[in-house]
Amino acid sequence: TIQGFIFDLDGVLTDTAEYHYRAWKRLADELGIPFTREENEALRGIPRRESLLLLLKGRTYPEAVLSELMDRKNGYYLEFIRELSPRDVLPGARELLQEIRAAGLKTALGSASKNAREVIERLGIAELFDAVADGYSVTRQKPAPDLFLHAAALLNLPPSACVVVEDAEAGVEAALAGGFYVVGIGPQERVGRAHIVLPSLAEARLSDLCQQLLHYAA
Ligand code: BG6
Ligand code: MG
Repeated sequence: TIQGFIFDLDGVLTDTAEYHYRAWKRLADELGIPFTREENEALRGIPRRESLLLLLKGRTYPEAVLSELMDRKNGYYLEFIRELSPRDVLPGARELLQEIRAAGLKTALGSASKNAREVIERLGIAELFDAVADGYSVTRQKPAPDLFLHAAALLNLPPSACVVVEDAEAGVEAALAGGFYVVGIGPQERVGRAHIVLPSLAEARLSDLCQQLLHYAA
């Protein structure tokens, strides 16, 4: 039976993907590198360093410069997320978290972001999580299962008793690799490998999810 839920943050609970885009775009403009919204889609769920390397499209820089560029982007991102408030929680997300907790199940955050704690504080949902796994928690990033395995360990639950909710292809792969149930948020092309695919959390009800996932129980 399902005893816990692990939520990705960016793109699942709030639309920070837009802020990540604007911050990378500003950096790319400063470097004179073309960067489109479409290209930004490929950065969904991808850690800061790998995102920068993709944005640089093969241009090489000394390590110190790479560090400065990552810090610069994060500075822009922090400026944008200063505006975040409880209104920026995506429709249905808070309700689902509350429903899960009311049912006596556990909740964890499983985000690659080093800014995850600050974001959930600003969104006013920090107290709805029993555990937080973030960009500081593990070395190997998604699509490796490490971050979600770490989150499940913090909840004291085996992966087979947990559902991961993800909007990124790399995140869906990470969850499958770890032996979790997966709910994919977004288009089929991106998260189609998940057990359940939903356009958003707006209509997600705990009982429906658990019932549908039972079909996949080993
Ligand atoms: C993921 C985002 O959640 O976190 C990525 O989807 C982001 O876009 C990654 O690059 C790392 O985030 P941060 O805040 O540590 O730069
Ligand atoms: Mg995400």
